[in-house]
Amino acid sequence: MSIKVKIKMGENYQIFEYGGDLNIPVTTLIERLDYPIEYSCSCLQGLCGACAMVINSQPKLACKTFVNEEIMTREYELITIEPLSKFPLVNDLKVDRSVLHDVMKDCEQWLESDANVSDDLNFDYEMSMCLMCGCCTEACPNYGFDDFVGTQVAVSASKLISLESDKDHTKSIKKKYNDHFYPHCLKTLACEDVCPMKIPTQRAISKMNRKSVWKIWQIIKRD
Ligand code: FES
Repeated sequence: MSIKVKIKMGENYQIFEYGGDLNIPVTTLIERLDYPIEYSCSCLQGLCGACAMVINSQPKLACKTFVNEEIMTREYELITIEPLSKFPLVNDLKVDRSVLHDVMKDCEQWLESDANVSDDLNFDYEMSMCLMCGCCTEACPNYGFDDFVGTQVAVSASKLISLESDKDHTKSIKKKYNDHFYPHCLKTLACEDVCPMKIPTQRAISKMNRKSVWKIWQIIKRD
């Protein structure tokens, strides 16, 4: 079967014909188009997050997304591939996602002292699966406005505030969450829908709200 592959390159789309095996990931499809298309990848096993792009209007990891499955869900034999739109475009399908690392630094997402023993290893493990691929920020309707830092900060913070034994640093992580996440997140939970690692982001956000925002409100009320 022959399919059409529509790829956004800069401002324009180019359409390619492909007539080979369809049981291949999108990264292999791009390689087989016999046309130099720049994109990011590293592990090709769904473990690094580098190959995130928009495939048939959904942010996905190209190395984990199979062409035949994408075609089956469509009316036409067409697959559309676009770069993530919330990050500066470098070239073709390649974007600069360094802002994701910058906000993690700004929000102090590290341990300042020895880690406490976790009381919920399963939760911590799930939160540790974040690849920082940017799929959640791409899908989030609130990302890109004000100084909203995106779901990866809530996911990371929800683990760190239980592990961190330095009280001042814990306080600081909560304050950053209150300033740069809580007022902007409107709980659409698009992040949970698209996360390639199936991280329960709603649980991360609930935990952070419970541990930082609501506690502060209770203190204000008491005063
Ligand atoms: S190349 Fe690493 S997740 Fe796709």
